[in-house]
Amino acid sequence: MAIQTIKVPDIGGSEGVEVIEISVAVGDVIALEDSIVVLETDKASMEIPASAAGKVTAIKVKVGDKVSEGALLIEVEAEGAGEAPAAESKPAAEPAAQPAAAAPAPAAAPAATAEQPITVPDIGGSEGVEVIEIIVKAGDEVAEGDSLIVLETDKASMEIPSPAAGKIVSISLKVGDKVSQGSAIGVIAAAGAAPTAAPVAAAPAAAAPAAAKAEAAPAPAKAAAATEEVAQTGDVYAGPAVRKLARQLGVDLGKVSGSGPRGRLQKDDVRGYVKPIVVAAQSGAPVGGGSGIPRVPAVDFSKFGEIELVKMSKVKKITADNMTRNWLNVPHVTQWDDADITDLEAFRNSLKAEAEKRGSKLTPLPFLLKAAAAALRAEPSFNVSLHHDGEHIVQKSYVHIGVAVDTPNGLMVPVIRNVDQKGLWELSDEFAGIVKKARDGKLTPADMQGGCFTISSLGAMGGNGFTPIVNAPEVAILGVSKAQMKPVWNGKEFLPRNMLPLSLSYDHRAINGADAGRFFTFLTATIADVRRLLL
Ligand code: COA
Repeated sequence: MAIQTIKVPDIGGSEGVEVIEISVAVGDVIALEDSIVVLETDKASMEIPASAAGKVTAIKVKVGDKVSEGALLIEVEAEGAGEAPAAESKPAAEPAAQPAAAAPAPAAAPAATAEQPITVPDIGGSEGVEVIEIIVKAGDEVAEGDSLIVLETDKASMEIPSPAAGKIVSISLKVGDKVSQGSAIGVIAAAGAAPTAAPVAAAPAAAAPAAAKAEAAPAPAKAAAATEEVAQTGDVYAGPAVRKLARQLGVDLGKVSGSGPRGRLQKDDVRGYVKPIVVAAQSGAPVGGGSGIPRVPAVDFSKFGEIELVKMSKVKKITADNMTRNWLNVPHVTQWDDADITDLEAFRNSLKAEAEKRGSKLTPLPFLLKAAAAALRAEPSFNVSLHHDGEHIVQKSYVHIGVAVDTPNGLMVPVIRNVDQKGLWELSDEFAGIVKKARDGKLTPADMQGGCFTISSLGAMGGNGFTPIVNAPEVAILGVSKAQMKPVWNGKEFLPRNMLPLSLSYDHRAINGADAGRFFTFLTATIADVRRLLL
């Protein structure tokens, strides 16, 4: 069996660097480039990747040891190795970025001012490196060497230190920008800087060795992988692999405690943070203790009498999920009013013969669609959705309205598009067509998407009123109950009027009570006198 040794590669000339983590154990099978140990200087941590694959047979260092280039780290029994010569660790000729190196400021710094541009220093020849964090902002006071931004390649993250002490005047980068050596980071007003180029003269010199070394040893770009720098930014002290894992899992590293030396975050810390959350979510138990939503306990109903278990349809299950999600996420307010439909019904009845001739059944619903579309136009605060980024409202210019339809499979909500642009006959026909499609089980997902508002009518069934659940991401829904003749006081006498009970539920995050009051008043007035649709 060929035993290969892995030694400390070129670590940019640093001597006596502390071993802060050993990432492998004897018996582990490792792949090429797996991280085996982590070294740390005052300024940077470096993950040393395996230069050979195989089974770890010996670990030659322990946490706390001080090592330099060439020190033996581990021994590996090479996978299927025969005569392969014992591979020593590749000399990583090209050091990773020198975070301690001051940014090379242009010699042309204005002589009469202490302000100086800050640029990206030598980062080992890497090009188009992504900015993953901006640690400082305009107005911040920084000391020389304080981290300003963090850059990250596939393999390494590096913090870029301030070339001088002073006040940050501006930062010209944003997260996601791609930078290379010399890219502008911002401007600093150096504290107590002589109004000459003196403080900046040192900067290129400091950066020079790194550049010279890179030139002298034309290692492939991959060699930079020999060291992985770890950023310590704000409260987050983690290496690129840990940051990548956290990004993949959507974990905010600021919330995770690091168990490594000096609180350094490790992959297991991220996994340990995520696991109980996933387990709790899957079991339905409350996350983090306290008052989660208690589950309804399972009950053996057969104890009380004969029962039959009936499988829920797919539609019913989806509806159950949607209802639960919407009920739990949307802070609902429901408001009630009656719309006087005496005149609307008279008009509708006058159209009955014509409707029959056309083969249409003109129910009150197309009138309600038309009135709701007009109200959405008049009160656009209802024609919105909350953007998932939590920072924006999506204001819609189209008016698509969903109608809840009771079908043998369960509740479906097909959407009628551009209701504001369609006449009553067209709406009536389209509505009849889509209700049939729903009841025949032929709706496509596209038929049920894009709604701005929903109407749910139980008018044909009865009831005085109900609280409809907002169909998120819409922000409001109209519940329609059964119209009844009621005595209505006109200031002088009670008159028998046909009154339609309406309930309007809305998402109080998107809509305030005054908006709702205006919308509802407009809606009931329009229903009461459909001539207003012409205005
Ligand atoms: N008050 C009194 N009568 C009403 C009414 C109301 N609010 N709404 C409708 N009607 C009448 C209609 O005029 C019709 O009578 P007519 O034949 O004498 O004209 C009759 O009730 C039947 O109407 P319907 O065929 O149901 O048509 P519609 O256009 O009113 O409703 C649907 C169509 C698809 C909305 C309805 O059939 C449906 O499925 N509703 C269920 C919605 C639902 O389940 N919502 C979930 C709540 S959580």
